[in-house]
Amino acid sequence: MKKGETQKRIEKLKDLINYHRYLYHVLNKEEISESALDSLKKELFDLEQNFPEFITPDSPTQRVGGKPIDAFKKIEHKEMMRSLNDAFSREDMDNWENRNKKLLNGEKIEYYCEPKLDGLAIELIYNKGILKTGATRGDGKIGEDVTQNIKTIEAIPLKLREEKDIIDDLKKERLPFINFDNIIVRGEAIITKKEFKKTNKEREKNGLPLYANPRNLAAGSLRQLDSKITSERNLDANVYDLVSDFGQKTHDEEHRILKVLGFKTNNKHNRLCKNMDEVFDFYAYWQKNREKLPYEIDGLVISINSNEVFNKLGVAGKAPRGAIALKFPLKQSTTIIEDIKIQVGRTGAMTPVAILKPVEINGVIVSRATLHNDKEIERLGLKIGDTVVVGRAGDVIPEVIKVFPELRTGKEKNFKMPVNCPSCETKLVKPENEIVWRCPNHNCFSRKMGWFKHFVSRSAFSIDGLGPKIIEKFIEEGLLSDPSDLFELKEGDILPLERFADKSAKKIVLNIQNRKEVSFSRFIYSLGIRNVGLKTSFDLALTFKSIEEIENASVEELESISDVGPIVAQSIFDWFRLKENKDFLRKLKERGVKYFIEKREGKLLGKKFVITGTLEKMSRDVAKENIILLGGEVSDSISKNIDYLVFGVNPGSKYEKAIKLGIKTLKEEDFLKIIS
Ligand code: IVH
Repeated sequence: MKKGETQKRIEKLKDLINYHRYLYHVLNKEEISESALDSLKKELFDLEQNFPEFITPDSPTQRVGGKPIDAFKKIEHKEMMRSLNDAFSREDMDNWENRNKKLLNGEKIEYYCEPKLDGLAIELIYNKGILKTGATRGDGKIGEDVTQNIKTIEAIPLKLREEKDIIDDLKKERLPFINFDNIIVRGEAIITKKEFKKTNKEREKNGLPLYANPRNLAAGSLRQLDSKITSERNLDANVYDLVSDFGQKTHDEEHRILKVLGFKTNNKHNRLCKNMDEVFDFYAYWQKNREKLPYEIDGLVISINSNEVFNKLGVAGKAPRGAIALKFPLKQSTTIIEDIKIQVGRTGAMTPVAILKPVEINGVIVSRATLHNDKEIERLGLKIGDTVVVGRAGDVIPEVIKVFPELRTGKEKNFKMPVNCPSCETKLVKPENEIVWRCPNHNCFSRKMGWFKHFVSRSAFSIDGLGPKIIEKFIEEGLLSDPSDLFELKEGDILPLERFADKSAKKIVLNIQNRKEVSFSRFIYSLGIRNVGLKTSFDLALTFKSIEEIENASVEELESISDVGPIVAQSIFDWFRLKENKDFLRKLKERGVKYFIEKREGKLLGKKFVITGTLEKMSRDVAKENIILLGGEVSDSISKNIDYLVFGVNPGSKYEKAIKLGIKTLKEEDFLKIIS
C-alpha cells in the first residue's frame, strides 16, 4: 500500500472501530463480534507500527501505552466539583423539599432521578471532539491529571461522534446546539461486580491484600502511575453531567445531549418524577432491583430538573442545594454474636448459626446469620461475644463478614463443634474430603423435621397447612414417624390435640388426601435424596419409568444422564440401598401414594426461559420451579438462545433486550396459561 493509501486506511479503520465502540457502549448494540473488532484493531496497530507518523492521540490503539509516570500533574477545575448531601428517609427528603420551596417563589419543581453509581467522579475535557484531559475530583478545586489512565476505559470516547451527525441528532431531538470547540463533562469511573471479583480472586491467589469494595478498586486503578495496570482492570464509566453551558434548560436535556455526543449514559435507567411520591416509587424500584445491575449503586441522585431553579438555589457548604443523594439503607451493620447454635438439616448436615443481638440491615431486623461450617468460623477467627459486621444482600441469608478482635473484653468464648448430634446424641461424622459434619442417624428428630418440611414444601408434595409447629406436635404425639404416615392421618387423630378445631383438622386431612398423586419428578424430589434438586429430579423422571427402575440402576447408568456427575449418581445409588428408605417407599405405596409419569416430552422440554420484573400471582422462585418441573430451563440473562421472556411489573432492560432480539415475551397471565 502506498503511504497515502495507508493513511486513508488508518483514518477509516479508526472511524470504524470508533463507530462499533459507540454502538456497543452507548447504544447497547453489537453489529460485529468482539473478535472481529479485535482483528480490526490489530490491523490498525500493525499499520501504525509501520507508519508511526500517522499515530494520533485519539487512535483506539493509544488507550494503553506510554511509560509509567512519576507523579500525576495537578489540574485546576474550571468549575468546582462539588459533592452531595445524603438523605436516608422520606422525612429527610420532605425536609429538603420544604427548605427549597421556602427559597423559591412557587416555581414548579420536577425531579430528575438517577442511580448513584458507586465509583469515582471524573471530569473529561474535549477540544474539537478529541479527548484532551481526564481528571479526578481531588479536593473539588484541584484534581489529578489521569488522562492516560482514563484513555484505557473503552466506555469513554477518545473522539466524539462526527460533528455533523451530532448536529443532525440534536436538531431531530429539538436539543440546543453545542459548541464543538470545547466540551466539559463529568461522570463516574466504575468497575463491574464481575471484574471486582475477578481482580480480588487473582490478588488472593498472589497473596496480595484484597480491595474492600468495587469503589476502592475503581479509585485504586485510576490512580495507578502505570496505565498498563489500569488497563488490566477493565474499568467502565458513565457520564451524567454536562458542565459546558450550551443553553440546556433541564437536567434531562443534558443527559440527552450527552448521549447524542457519544457518551455512555445511564439514561434508560433514569426517570423524571413529578413529585416526591413518584421519587419514592422509583426509589423502591431500585432498592428491589439494584442487585440486577452489573455494578454497585448506593442510592439515587435526585436533582431539580430545571437548571434555572437549580442555579437559583445555589450552594450551601460543599453541596448544591438543588440536588441530593438519596441513599439506600445500609446493607451491613455491626452487632454482637450472642451465641452459636447448630442447625440440623434434612440430610443430617450440621450448620452453625450465629445468634445475633437483633439489628436492622437493609430495612429488616435480623437476628440470625449463617456461618456455613466450622471451617468458616475458624477462617473468620470468630468467638462468641465478638462484635462483628453482618451483611445482607437482597434476599440472601445474612452472613458474618468481619470480626473486630480489637473490641474484645476477654470474656469471649471459643466455639467448639459438638462431637454428638445436639438432637439425638449420635456421634457426628465427616468424610475426609468434605467440610460439613453430619448426623448419621436416620431417625434423628431434627433430621426428621427437616425431611417433613422438605416433603410438604411447594416443589415437593405441596401440602398446605402443615407448618413446622404442627408437624412437631404430630411427631411428639406419635402420629408421624415418616412422611408416609401423613396419608394415614384421620380427623379423629388430630381433633383430640390441643389447638385443633373441627374445621382445621378436617382441612388438614383433606389437603393431604388431595395430594396423594403427584408427578413422578415431584415424587423423586420429595424423597429428599442428598444432592438431588429439582433439575435432577426432572431428568430422572424423564429417563426412568418407575421408582423401581431408578432403584435398580447402576452408578454408571445414573451417571450417563446428562448433568448427573459421579457424586450425585453415588448419592442416589446409596439412598436406595438403605433399609429405612426401602421401607419408606413400600409404606408410601401401601398407603396409596401414586405418581404419574410426565409426558416424555415434558411440556416445556428444551425451552429456555428468563423471568424479569415483579410477578403478581407467584414469586419468581415458584415460577422457576414450575418451569423446571415441566422440563424447561431458567436462565438469568437474555441471549439469542432464550425461547421465552416472562415479564411482570417493571421489567427493565431485559425486556428491551428481548424485544430487540425478537424473543417471544409472555405476560404473567399467558405464562400461567402455559404452566397450568
Ligand atoms: S451528580 C454536585 N449523578 O456521587 C455533584 N453524581 O455524592 C453532582 N455520583 O461526587 C453529582 N452517580 O461521584 C451525580 N448519577 C450521578 C452519580 C453521582 C454517582 C457520585 C459523584 C459525586 C457523588 C456525590
